[in-house]
Amino acid sequence: MKGSTLALAAQLVTSASAFTLVQRENPKVVKFDINRRNVNPLEHDRLRRRDTVQVTLDNLETLYFMNASLGTPEQNFRLHIDTGSSDLWVNAANSRLCSNIGQPCSVAGTYNANDSSSYNYVNSVFNISYVDGSGASGDYATDTFKLSNPDLTVEDLQFGIGYTSSSPEGILGIGYRVNEVQVNRAGLDPYSNLPQKLVDDKTINTNAYSLWLNDLDASTGSILFGGVDTDKFNGTLSTLPIIAESDTYAEFIIALTAMGEDGDKGSIFENESVAVLLDSGSSLMYLPDNVATALYSKYNAEYDSSQGAAICDCDLANQDGSIDFTFSSDGPTISVPLNELVLVMGYQRGEPICILGIGPSGDSISVLGDTFLRSAYVVYDLENNQIGLAQTVFNATASNVKEIESGSDGIPSATSVPNAISSLSVQGGGGRIGGPSVTGSIGGSNPESSGFGSPAATPMPWHAAGAALAGAGLMMGFNGF
Ligand SMILES: *[C@@H]1O[C@H](CO)[C@@H](O)[C@H](O)[C@H]1NC(C)=O
Ligand SMILES: *[C@@H]1O[C@H](CO)[C@@H](O)[C@H](O)[C@H]1NC(C)=O
Ligand SMILES: *[C@@H]1O[C@H](CO)[C@@H](O)[C@H](O)[C@H]1NC(C)=O
Ligand SMILES: *[C@@H]1O[C@H](CO)[C@@H](O)[C@H](O)[C@H]1NC(C)=O
Ligand SMILES: *[C@@H]1O[C@H](CO)[C@@H](O)[C@H](O)[C@H]1NC(C)=O
Ligand SMILES: *[C@@H]1O[C@H](CO)[C@@H](O)[C@H](O)[C@H]1NC(C)=O
Repeated sequence: MKGSTLALAAQLVTSASAFTLVQRENPKVVKFDINRRNVNPLEHDRLRRRDTVQVTLDNLETLYFMNASLGTPEQNFRLHIDTGSSDLWVNAANSRLCSNIGQPCSVAGTYNANDSSSYNYVNSVFNISYVDGSGASGDYATDTFKLSNPDLTVEDLQFGIGYTSSSPEGILGIGYRVNEVQVNRAGLDPYSNLPQKLVDDKTINTNAYSLWLNDLDASTGSILFGGVDTDKFNGTLSTLPIIAESDTYAEFIIALTAMGEDGDKGSIFENESVAVLLDSGSSLMYLPDNVATALYSKYNAEYDSSQGAAICDCDLANQDGSIDFTFSSDGPTISVPLNELVLVMGYQRGEPICILGIGPSGDSISVLGDTFLRSAYVVYDLENNQIGLAQTVFNATASNVKEIESGSDGIPSATSVPNAISSLSVQGGGGRIGGPSVTGSIGGSNPESSGFGSPAATPMPWHAAGAALAGAGLMMGFNGF
């Protein structure tokens, strides 16, 4: 039964309180440095949000990328890291798009199977597509995947080749395998995507990784497969259950239960349960309309629906203050400093134009994208279906890498949140192509599984207003505004 499985899952998560710290001279981890690319976050998210949230180019314009190669001899790529999809795919050199004058694919790199002695054909079901009609299709193949720093070789990694494509990017999707194109479009069994392959090859202990995006003003962060760097966050990591959709763990959704400002926990709202998607592929965060509206009025930001963003005074970035997010009632609070929320969009006569990095979610699921994620150290534990969260340390230069061990309590320096919320009604969970094909209410409506202060099955009332922003702030009680 659905309900009892969830209750059991919740118990397992909440009873794990002892954590194993494994520190070896050579920990079994793989760390990649990642670069941030400066793209216009609005253009990026506008494409992504053309229809509903996290559709369209969701997976295509992630701001964070790394270098890697495929093939023998090596063919080099710049790959965008995407926690919101699950396939590695690259463009074929001879696709119509990449053969265009101007070589649009040359920055991200292209693959030529005939030039690789280690290429092996798998099947022809690769087809990733987006609501606006863009996407890529072609073959799945395996080949040797290499990183130069650190030195890592993964033999026979499966990936997609876009023989037909309308996107010049190469994507490294590292999400749940149930979201692989081969599974959710062709109905085939899952294959080992990169994080799972690193486990299969015993390079790391367990399918879990940590993402440290770092400061808005810093251009590099890192992703650590199989490990946690305890010098990149303050305090301990709190672990929270990921919320399943139709009994399937498919995306990184957790429960946001309170928001406050300037350290005043819950001053914006509390005792609510908002399903939020952690998505490194989204530049901004998208919050329930009335919350966004209240924040706009608080910070004198003006929402421009044609831009899909709220213009604000750039001086806001020089003010002290924060917006604070609390998860699973008794769970961690991540504080996002105001200066992380103000993005320079461009210049007009030498003067910068700024936006607040918060948009309205309309009738779609709320999303915590990069304007939130930079302030958090996040562990994505796909083996145990949990998220570890702690306040980031910006610009940390020290490093203390520990292995994550297999098993439910394998994340070092972590404690699980008591009475964590493990099921919720998620709105707008469907509609994402390449996402799970579920809509409407998900998870079990099982109050026991979520404990004190957590209205597990309560739908989000403010979504009823849809995209109507005006006056939406009245729909729920706001403290402090
Ligand atoms: C990737 O390669 C480019 C070009 O060589 C280089 O500028 C960039 O720093 C590299 N990025 C990482 C994360 O290694
Ligand atoms: C690889 O070689 C085959 C056979 O010669 C040819 O049909 C195909 O177009 C080539 N592929 C590429 C990407 O050049
Ligand atoms: C890929 O999927 C799209 C959308 O479902 C479809 O229109 C297209 O024909 C497919 N391409 C191939 C090669 O199967
Ligand atoms: C982090 O470093 C960048 C420069 O690399 C700097 O602009 C920024 O202010 C630093 N952030 C903090 C919080 O110290
Ligand atoms: C977070 O950790 C850093 C480095 O360990 C320390 O300098 C800073 O004071 C800590 N901040 C808080 C809020 O505890
Ligand atoms: C939230 O719950 C706590 C504990 O039950 C209660 O003290 C508080 O007044 C509630 N806050 C709101 C805004 O309802």
